[in-house]
Amino acid sequence: MKAVCYADKLFRKMTNLSTLAREVLQKNDRGGYTVPRPGLYPFQWNWDSSFVSLGFAVIDESRAWEELETLFKGQWANGMVPHIVFHKDDDSYSPGPGQWGAHNGSGLNTSAISNPPVAGISVKRLLKDAEDQDFARRKAAGLFPKLYAWHKWFHEVRDPEGTGLVMTYHPWETGRDNSHDWKSLLPRVPLDNLRPYKRKDTEHVDADQRPDKSEYDAFMALVQFFRDHGFDEAYFYENSPFKIADTTINFILAKADLDLIWVAEHLDADKYAAEIAQLKAWHKVSLKGLERLWDAEQGAYTPLDMKTGKHVKGISSGTFLSFLADLDHKDREHRQIEILESWHEKGLLVPSYDPEHADFEPQRYWMGPVWTVVNYLIYEGLNSCGYDEMARKVAVDTMIALKKGSVSEYFNPLTAEGLGGKDFSWTSALWLYWLAPLQDNLAADYSARVQMFE
Ligand code: GLC
Repeated sequence: MKAVCYADKLFRKMTNLSTLAREVLQKNDRGGYTVPRPGLYPFQWNWDSSFVSLGFAVIDESRAWEELETLFKGQWANGMVPHIVFHKDDDSYSPGPGQWGAHNGSGLNTSAISNPPVAGISVKRLLKDAEDQDFARRKAAGLFPKLYAWHKWFHEVRDPEGTGLVMTYHPWETGRDNSHDWKSLLPRVPLDNLRPYKRKDTEHVDADQRPDKSEYDAFMALVQFFRDHGFDEAYFYENSPFKIADTTINFILAKADLDLIWVAEHLDADKYAAEIAQLKAWHKVSLKGLERLWDAEQGAYTPLDMKTGKHVKGISSGTFLSFLADLDHKDREHRQIEILESWHEKGLLVPSYDPEHADFEPQRYWMGPVWTVVNYLIYEGLNSCGYDEMARKVAVDTMIALKKGSVSEYFNPLTAEGLGGKDFSWTSALWLYWLAPLQDNLAADYSARVQMFE
């Protein structure tokens, strides 16, 4: 009897979360694109919009496609899709268009770095699930050449020697801004020419939930470095003081390549034969490159510091995106599952940094908190590799985070407290797209696990 009452209460709360999530997407919608959170992030962010499009798919399929179409308006002539598109001015965020000093060649101000290429994954999902298949095929056909050009840019411009690993020159590109992965690398960024700048993020969120000053100095110095060298990719490849092969970008790209192949075959395998062949060739080389991310010493996939050729030390949530790339190494997968099992005993999955490590900070941004978007990708990867039970644990824990911490930017894995920006777009989108449909199925596991956080 008690269980029934509890489930009923749970259902009501979850229904409210769905209402809230819809309201947040509407509130953050700027007409054709969605800001992650007004004030804190007042422009269009690349991988945010890719997740947001999935949330809109639940509400209005045509608006879902529009989110991606608007993002691709910011694409550069060389194929790069920037991590921020500044459709309008707004001085509540820094660095804004004035500091980046970059544009896409047709009048739109943008940042000069990219983001994990989630858009291809989203397009496959939108197309596969579409109620109106003709409409979705037209939309996907419009986006495909742009997506292809973006992947080409990653594989050719960011991996000019064809090693199978794409390079990254700024932590913001990985989406995991102040991850522990970069802690030992950022002090190398020279600060001698750092021009004065004013932080805006700490006007919106407590400083102890954001990157610290030394990290921010390095972030800004890199932005200035890009601008001072005319956004010359060949120059960065040789000279960037920060040069890494990141887990997030490389694993997501491998999965997105496969999803683009699916899209092209679904649309017209003959018409896109050349693109399909090229995507398959890139993917084959990537599979070789991804092997180099395995750090046997730590028993985990970790980013490579390309300045020294060594793996970064410590285990972050990016490790588990390897499931998404389906590398088919059962022994390694089991080792990753063991790590997740032990983290599960400490708190909510998946903390952005190892909760057993002295540097773990449960409230600080990418140094410990749980992020819904990373959990969603890990969940998809675990399921596709057959680890259904662990996937379920990740879904249950994310549900606890959102139900206790609302649709916040990120969550404390030890308490489930919501942190960072409130009423966040991508968290809302993934509630609607991923978690809300699972609520009945997960109710029993949820009730058992949530007690740990009461
Ligand atoms: C922060 C996150 C990044 C995200 C952006 C907008 O910079 O680290 O991943 O894209 O906010 O939400």
